[in-house]
Amino acid sequence: MEWQTKFEVGNHKIDLEHQVFIELVKGLAEAEEQGKSRDQIRRLIAELEKYAEFHFISEENMMIDVEYPEYEDHHEHHATLLREFRRFVISFEMGKNCVLSLVDFLISWFIRHTTNEDLQLSKYISKKEA
Ligand SMILES: [Fe+2]
Repeated sequence: MEWQTKFEVGNHKIDLEHQVFIELVKGLAEAEEQGKSRDQIRRLIAELEKYAEFHFISEENMMIDVEYPEYEDHHEHHATLLREFRRFVISFEMGKNCVLSLVDFLISWFIRHTTNEDLQLSKYISKKEA
């Protein structure tokens, strides 16, 4: 999974943060494939979860700044992702072999969410700034 220009939403800050997110997902997948220790995997998952939280707050602050009308809906998408993410963390802690399923889930969510909700947000911000 490499960064692709089709993931770009046209907002510099959002795109930069998305690139970091993809790097972290990639790092987790590689660590799992290389058979890294549970402790190392746990730390990478925690980093990714914190980064997702950070990034959602970052986007939501941008929404508040421009009085984005779809704020509630977009926020709900973020909250749902974090709830699902936490379910994977619980499974991991229960000893389930779910790291690559988490990776797949995050990648498909990312592609769906960026090409829909985030693209809409980015367009709204550029319209407001024009
Ligand atoms: Fe978003």
